[in-house]
Amino acid sequence: MPAIASRMERMAPSGIRRVNEKALAMERAGETVIHFEIGRPDFDTPEYIKKAAIEALRSGDVFYTSNFGKMELRQAIAEKLKRENGLDYKAEEILVTAGLSEAVFAVLAAILEEGDELLVPDPVWINYRNVPAFLNAVPVSYELKEENGYQLDLEEIRSKVTAKTRAIVLVTPNNPTGGVLCREVLQKLADLAIEKNLLVISDEVYERLIYDGTEHVSIASLPGMKERTFTMNGLSKTYSMTGWRLGYVAAPAEYIPVLNKFHQHNTTCAVSFGQAAAVVALQEEGEEVREMVKEYQRRRDYAVKAINAIDGLSCLSPKGAFYIFINCKALGQKSAELADYLLENAKIALVPGDVFGPGGEGYLRMSFANSYENIAEGCARLKDAVETLKKETCR
Ligand SMILES: Cc1ncc(COP(=O)(O)O)c(C=O)c1O
Repeated sequence: MPAIASRMERMAPSGIRRVNEKALAMERAGETVIHFEIGRPDFDTPEYIKKAAIEALRSGDVFYTSNFGKMELRQAIAEKLKRENGLDYKAEEILVTAGLSEAVFAVLAAILEEGDELLVPDPVWINYRNVPAFLNAVPVSYELKEENGYQLDLEEIRSKVTAKTRAIVLVTPNNPTGGVLCREVLQKLADLAIEKNLLVISDEVYERLIYDGTEHVSIASLPGMKERTFTMNGLSKTYSMTGWRLGYVAAPAEYIPVLNKFHQHNTTCAVSFGQAAAVVALQEEGEEVREMVKEYQRRRDYAVKAINAIDGLSCLSPKGAFYIFINCKALGQKSAELADYLLENAKIALVPGDVFGPGGEGYLRMSFANSYENIAEGCARLKDAVETLKKETCR
C-alpha cells in the first residue's frame, strides 16, 4: 500500500488528460484521431520570440533569476498592463511565475484559510475547483448559463456570499464557455466585491483571443478594484507559448513577498532565458498575434455553423478563447458517455462538459485550436456519428 497523504484525494486528476491519453493510445494502435480536446494553440511560437530566447541562451542567461522575476520583465509587464488594460501597476507589484497555473496555486495558498469559501464559476477551468479543495477551503459554484450568454448572475452571487466568503474567481474570456464578461456586469460585480469586502481573482489568460470586436475589461481598472484584485495572466495562449511556462500575477504590493514565498519553495523562478524572451514578446510584438486571432475566428465561424447544422447539437458563438461549448442535451446521453462514443466511433476527441463542473453536464468542449482542414473533417465526422447514434437509439 503506498503511503499517500489524504489531501491528494481532494485533487481530482485532469478529465481533459484522461480523454487525451485515451486518444493517444488509439493513435498508437493505428487510428487517426482528430484532437479537439487540448487547450493549447496549434501555432508555433512567433520567430522573434524564439530568436530572443536563443540569443539569451547563447549569451549565458542560464542561471537562477531574482525569484520575483527579472526586473526588465516585471517592468515590461507593467507597461503592457498600462498600454493594453489601463492598469497602473508598478514592477514591484508583479510576480513572474512558472505559468499562470503556478500563480493560481500561490494566490489561493496565500489568501484562503481552511474552511474559507471561494466563489468559482461553473463551468470553469478545473484548477479553480481542485486547488481550493486541496487547501481544505471550499469552492462554491456560481452558474454561467448558456441562456444568459454565459454572463454571471449578480443576484445568485450575492445570495451565495457568506461570512466565510473570501474571494471570487472571474475567468474572462472563459474556458470552457468562450463567454466574455461585459463591462456592465463587471461594474456591478465590482460594487458587490467592495460592499462585501471580497478579493477578486481575475484570470485573463485568453484576453487577446477575442472576436467580433468584443471588449475585454480588466476588473482592476474599475474604481476601487485594484486594491482587492489579483490580475492573473501569462504568455501561454496569446503568444502560443504553453511549453515555456511563463505567467504572472499583479497585486497590491504587500501580497507580492507573500506570493513569492510559495513561488520560491515551488519553482524558485521562471526559466531565465524564457523571461528574457518574454520581455521581447511583450515589447516587440508585430502582426503575429493579430494573424493568429484572425485564423481562430475563421475556424470558429466554420465550426459554429457546422455544429448548429447538426440535428441534436447546438452552440453559441464564443466571444473569446478557442473553445466551443456544444449543447448536446437533445441527444439524451451523459456528456462523458457521448464523448466516449464519439472518440471510439468517430475518432474525434472532445471533453465532456462535466469535467468543468456540474453545470457543464449536457455539453462537450471543442477546442478550435486545430487546423481548418481538421475542423472541417472533425465536424463532418461529428455529423455522421450523431446521425448514426440517433438511428441506433431509435431502434
Ligand atoms: C482559464 C485558464 N487559466 C490558466 C490556464 C493555464 O495557463 P498557464 O499555461 O499559463 O499555466 C489555462 C490553461 O488551459 C486556462 O484555461
